[in-house]
Formats: sequence, C-alpha cells, structure tokens
Amino acid sequence: MTRRLKHDIPGPDRRVTVEEVKEKGWTAIFAPDEVSPASMVVEIGFGRGEFLLDLATRSPERAHVGIEVSTKRVLKMARRVARLPLGNLRLACTSGEQALEELLAPASVSAFWINFPDPWPKKRHLRRRLVQPAFVTRLADRLEPGGDLHVATDHADYAEQIDEVLAGETALENAFAPHRFLREVPDRLPTAYELEWRAEGRPLHFWHYRRRRS
Ligand SMILES: C[S@@+](CC[C@H](N)C(=O)[O-])C[C@H]1O[C@@H](n2cnc3c(N)ncnc32)[C@H](O)[C@@H]1O
Repeated sequence: MTRRLKHDIPGPDRRVTVEEVKEKGWTAIFAPDEVSPASMVVEIGFGRGEFLLDLATRSPERAHVGIEVSTKRVLKMARRVARLPLGNLRLACTSGEQALEELLAPASVSAFWINFPDPWPKKRHLRRRLVQPAFVTRLADRLEPGGDLHVATDHADYAEQIDEVLAGETALENAFAPHRFLREVPDRLPTAYELEWRAEGRPLHFWHYRRRRS
C-alpha cells in the first residue's frame, strides 16, 4: 500500500519559487528572519535533506539554500523544516542548472555541496549527469573567492568524470592536494544515500575544491 503524501505545512513554509527569488531577491526573502544572504551555503540535490538540516543547524547566522528537482522531496523537507527553528534555510524546487543560471549571482555563495548526484549509468543518459564542464565553470563563478565546492560519489565511472572536470576547471584549486580525492573525510555527516552505499561496501570518493582568490 502506498502512503499518501501530506501537503499541509505544519509551520513556516520555507519553500521559495524561482519567480519569487527573481522578483524579490534573497535579501528580502531572508529579511523576516533577520538573516543576511551574504555568503550563502547551497546544497544541490539534497534528497531527504538530513545533511542540509545539519549544516543549517550548525550555522544559524548563515543563509542556506537547498535545491532539489523532486517536488516530493521538497515537500517532505518543507514539512520537516516547518517544525524546526530554521529561519536561515530556504528550499527551491528546481534543477541545479536552473538555480545557477537564474537564482544565484556571481560570487554570492561560500560553499556548494553536491552529495551523491544521480550517476546516470546508461551510455545514452550520460549527458544528464550534473557534473559537466559548463556546470562546474558556473559553480566556480557563483562561488566567492576562496569559496568551497564539495562533491561526493560512490560511482566509479562518474568519479572519473567528476575528477577530470574539477581538475580541468582553472578557476578552482584542489583543497585535498596532493590527493585528487579522499575515500573518507573525518567528521562528515553521512547522507542517506551514503549510508546505503557504505552498507554495500562501495568505495566512496570525496572532492573538495576552492575558488582561486586571483
Ligand atoms: C542519488 S540522490 C542523493 C540525495 C542526497 N544528496 C544524498 O546523498 O542522500 C540524488 C538527488 O539529486 C536530485 N537531483 C537529480 N538531478 C538534479 C538536478 N539536476 N538538480 C537538482 N537536484 C537533482 C534527485 O531528485 C535526488 O534527490
């Protein structure tokens, strides 16, 4: 039996639409909660959202934005967030690509997190992968100088692509150098997908790049 999705939001609704952000801007959106949108933290593809909740809870003074293309995931997360005192968090139901193009200004983000993006393993679907050269160039542009880009995957073939694309973006430098990526990052909160892949014993890959300062 499938469980019916609940649509009521039991508290403040932290969802924003693309139109609303374009019309009002982040400053007005966060203003009621007296949070500055300077140096935002953005997670793309937050899934069940536990990682984003942890980030936003740890840094209540900083604005956090969750981008997720699945309406169902955004709704479930909005219901969860509504019960928490997290005025520093907003959720946008859109793709990472659209968010970068329309919602995030150059040099406005202090950190991007992309945890276990869909690997699209079939050859004919490869172009649907999120981490592509043009996308990463745009991520680098939206980061403030010295800002962080974190990416993780369990998928070996996607890992090769991610590694190549990140290393090839001249606006970024590898914060894990001389390692290209790490298999484990101490003190990192595991995401829901990460826990599944760990239970299956899959090797994990974690990258940390920074936007160059000059
Ligand atoms: C494999 S899941 C990982 C979820 C979560 N980050 C984790 O590690 O548990 C990938 C998530 O990215 C979302 N997603 C897929 N394509 C996306 C896109 N282009 N922009 C934003 N989110 C996307 C999916 O809906 C899904 O929730």
